[in-house]
Amino acid sequence: MSTISEILSSAVGSAFKAEGLPEDLGLVRTSDRPDLAQFQCNGAMQAAKIAKKAPRQIAESVLGHLEGDTRFSRVEIAGPGFLNLNVTDEFLTSHVNAIAADERLGCPTVENVRKVVLDYGGPNVAKAMHVGHLRASIIGDSLRRLFAFLGDDTVGDVHMGDWGLPMGMLITEVKREQPGLIYFDAEQTGPYPVESPVTIDDLQRLYPVAANRCKESPEDLDEARLATAELQAGRPGYRALWQQFFDISVSEMKADFSNLGVEFDLWLGEAAVNDLIAPMVDEMKASGVAEMSQGALIVPVSEEGDNPELPPLMMLKSDGAVTYGTTDIATIEHRRQNIDPDLILYVVDQRQHLHFEQVFRAANRAGVTGKAELEHIGFGTMNGADGKPFKTRAGGVMKLRDLITMAIEAADERIEEFGLAEEIGTEERAGIVRMVALAAIRFADLSNHRQSNYIFDLDRFIRFEGKTGPYLLYAAVRVKSLLRRAGDAGIVPGEILPPGDLERGLVLMLDRLPEFIQAAYERRAPNELCEFAHTLAQEFSTFYQNCHILSEENKALQASRLALAQLALRQLLLVLSLLGIQVPERM
Ligand code: ARG
Repeated sequence: MSTISEILSSAVGSAFKAEGLPEDLGLVRTSDRPDLAQFQCNGAMQAAKIAKKAPRQIAESVLGHLEGDTRFSRVEIAGPGFLNLNVTDEFLTSHVNAIAADERLGCPTVENVRKVVLDYGGPNVAKAMHVGHLRASIIGDSLRRLFAFLGDDTVGDVHMGDWGLPMGMLITEVKREQPGLIYFDAEQTGPYPVESPVTIDDLQRLYPVAANRCKESPEDLDEARLATAELQAGRPGYRALWQQFFDISVSEMKADFSNLGVEFDLWLGEAAVNDLIAPMVDEMKASGVAEMSQGALIVPVSEEGDNPELPPLMMLKSDGAVTYGTTDIATIEHRRQNIDPDLILYVVDQRQHLHFEQVFRAANRAGVTGKAELEHIGFGTMNGADGKPFKTRAGGVMKLRDLITMAIEAADERIEEFGLAEEIGTEERAGIVRMVALAAIRFADLSNHRQSNYIFDLDRFIRFEGKTGPYLLYAAVRVKSLLRRAGDAGIVPGEILPPGDLERGLVLMLDRLPEFIQAAYERRAPNELCEFAHTLAQEFSTFYQNCHILSEENKALQASRLALAQLALRQLLLVLSLLGIQVPERM
């Protein structure tokens, strides 16, 4: 289904064409000045340069072609040559009824379905997930939902960090604490105990200790590096111990992600592609893509015009250990072999941009990408009030889990203060508190353009007023309750009638969903969805304040207004679901 702007663009485009001007100058969009007109077209300004005529004169000729088009109620030229356009209420009505009858609420699917891998989340084995992973998870999750909604064939991969130096650090650190373990006996090849010698708490405690030690002492760093290289080369005891780290970390991550409502199709990590590395590296050497440099194997990736020059990507360190970049290249190879995607989106911190630039160039040189386009979807940091990445009060890394707990406590207080959920049982209430907390976190994060940094301000995020997740939940629940009450009273939604002044704003907004969805999709920008949801909720609120529904005596008008409310709710719920935000039945 086309939006009204699209339908009008084609009418105005034809008018430009009839004047011998480019059709695309007829682009119509929602007016910047809704007080003056519903839609506008600024094409005459540009046409003036091409035709070397005054823009007003062109606008007048274009206008001449639109006369007699019954869809328009009023067409005017404003200022130097802007076209201000209004459509008839009849046209609006037939359009909005069509949207209501459409299962997809007016949203088309993509013409060319693509296979899209989304690489997001990216937690690391043995480390607690932190707020950076929060952003990667919810932006990635939202994009996956959006792409899937538009018809693309999506595969979400968590791509865990599980194969680098931190693993060697941990192995040596565990050895320091428990040197007698069978895993460290180089003569042994197993079998190894089923039970893990460490818990997740041990891992999260040991990793910072090990990292510090390696920062301070070059010998300890060397030892960790050696252990990493041995692990990667397949030393049985290290592999077995690593598997324990992996298993306990994954169950921890799964709990965190399920808490957040984030899902993945694939639970692969860097280690999963280890066996592909040796043959791939051999080929890269043979083809000359990779070369030796000071004992290490590198891929030069600099290109003409780079400023500054891009450093080479390290494939193998001099001790044979692989790097973050090596596993990323091998993962592209793995995805090509198993999925053969058209597009891979890497939803990863903007600070890794250089890394991805190197990886993409190296992958293209190595010819491992197949038909896949590679795209880094970078995002900014979530900061504390000091403008630095958000920390705990004590200055430590804020764990995702603690952040969610904080939000739940805040949501609980707010709900109480706002007088909500008063007559609701404990269990249902707990569910509502959770949904409010997560809506607050997700909406606050997604409503900022992903590239910008934002300040974590829980008090603001958790409010029921303003541009917040809780406000939208409240709005949606209000409509749900209206529809329930109408149902109880035997009132059913009917045909939508031509809008009056009080309904027109809502109707015009209901037409714009595809526009925002398309913008979000093209720019990989969930904030467009947030914008739509918030504006729609505001339009609904104005409509609802001014229009009686349950008490309306004109039955046709009542059924029409109820249908508008229902359509608004369906759109709101759709967009919230694309943002990964769950809505309670009541609160
Ligand atoms: N584990 C990485 C980190 O914590 C993120 C992984 C992102 N994905 C990728 N293919 N490199 O920074």
